[in-house]
Amino acid sequence: MKVLIIGSGGREHAIAAKIKESKQLTAVYAAPGSDGMSDIAEKTGIAVTDNEGILAFVREKGIDMVFIGPEVPLLNGLADLLLKENVMVLGPQKDAAELEGSKAFCKHMMKKYDIPTAAYEVFDDMKAALAYLQTVSYPTVVKADGLAAGKGVIIAADEGEAAAAVKSMMEDKVFGDSGSRVVIEEFLKGEELSLLAFTDGETVVPMLPSQDHKRIDDDDMGPNTGGMGAYAPAPVGSPEIIEKAMEQVLKPMVRAMKEEGRPYRGVLYAGLMVDGDDVKVLEFNARFGDPETQAVLPLLDSDILDIVRAINEGTLSEQEIRWKDGYAVCVVISAKGYPASPVKGDVISGLDQELEDTFVFHAGTKLADGSFVSNGGRVLGVTAIAPELKAAIDKAYARVETIDFKECHYRHDIGRKAFRHLK
Ligand code: AMP
Ligand code: GLY
Repeated sequence: MKVLIIGSGGREHAIAAKIKESKQLTAVYAAPGSDGMSDIAEKTGIAVTDNEGILAFVREKGIDMVFIGPEVPLLNGLADLLLKENVMVLGPQKDAAELEGSKAFCKHMMKKYDIPTAAYEVFDDMKAALAYLQTVSYPTVVKADGLAAGKGVIIAADEGEAAAAVKSMMEDKVFGDSGSRVVIEEFLKGEELSLLAFTDGETVVPMLPSQDHKRIDDDDMGPNTGGMGAYAPAPVGSPEIIEKAMEQVLKPMVRAMKEEGRPYRGVLYAGLMVDGDDVKVLEFNARFGDPETQAVLPLLDSDILDIVRAINEGTLSEQEIRWKDGYAVCVVISAKGYPASPVKGDVISGLDQELEDTFVFHAGTKLADGSFVSNGGRVLGVTAIAPELKAAIDKAYARVETIDFKECHYRHDIGRKAFRHLK
């Protein structure tokens, strides 16, 4: 089987590594791909937004299956185009990906189908949004409706901060058109949980629960990022919580999308807030999470190509999906200045060292004069697996410490929250 992966980050490197384990594989390419993953997925250089270029490549090489990593190509209708070519795809069609593409649509769906989430209002008019801010309690949450690369959510401590957020989105257009509509919602307390599931539009199969670390610094301090690390299985996702999330969130949403004539097939990611035994949705994403994937997929024990085939054939209910025992921990190493303005171009040392059961996923690197240099905000994701969480954490950090580049940054507390539940 010939496979193409769309994307170039750490998530896509982890997807490529899992695909590589399949005995059915004959070739794997990535668009654009990266130098860091080119040992397992041939780099094509085709941009994720170049639908025509991707289609031409798929025809030329006779690609059988395409994994779409990031959200932008999903919302550009890439899955729709590929399905017309009779190519198997992992990733929903455009009208189903709207669940991630518009927070207002997502909230509307949750309200209509009784899926638990924070109370909210949607505004297209700035004056009305500002007036509403006088009536809510604080903290409150202001969200740009459209895609904003994970940066479109502001937790405002008071009305001044909330009004500044609304103005930056609606007046200054810091997120372009994505902020011409805003969602203002109730602040939820609790612990976050990422529960991703495979679905063929009927059957919904959860992956191992995982937890992201959104803030740049230890103890959840500093600005939000794309994610500074993750681990799986996250014990906050107890069997009872997973059961609840499946029955109240994931299965109802898949049924709802079918009812709306937007059948959802692919990976459905529920970002959840867990407070005691209460589960509420923060967001849905239409794809694998980054960096959750770098922790979850190394533990997948089944052939991922079989799973994607079953999703495309509508036979997921017959597909066995097995997970390895133990834990996986991914620590992200970022560049100085991330998330605001990452410094690029520093030579990375230590990549050639080997440590058993560890994987170094390249997120933002490139080859320059034969050496890998930093080339993005999140530079590397270092994953380790071990039978116990503590051992996985220690091993991941042991590998992290062998790697260096100028003023690189990482959190020291990835996975620590889990011990609240494990003791
Ligand atoms: P989102 O992109 O919607 O997941 O939001 C990004 C991050 O903002 C989430 O991972 C949470 O940490 C936080 N967040 C979003 N919505 C809320 C909410 N209603 N209450 C508390 N935190 C939130
Ligand atoms: N880790 C959060 C995301 O992928 O959206």
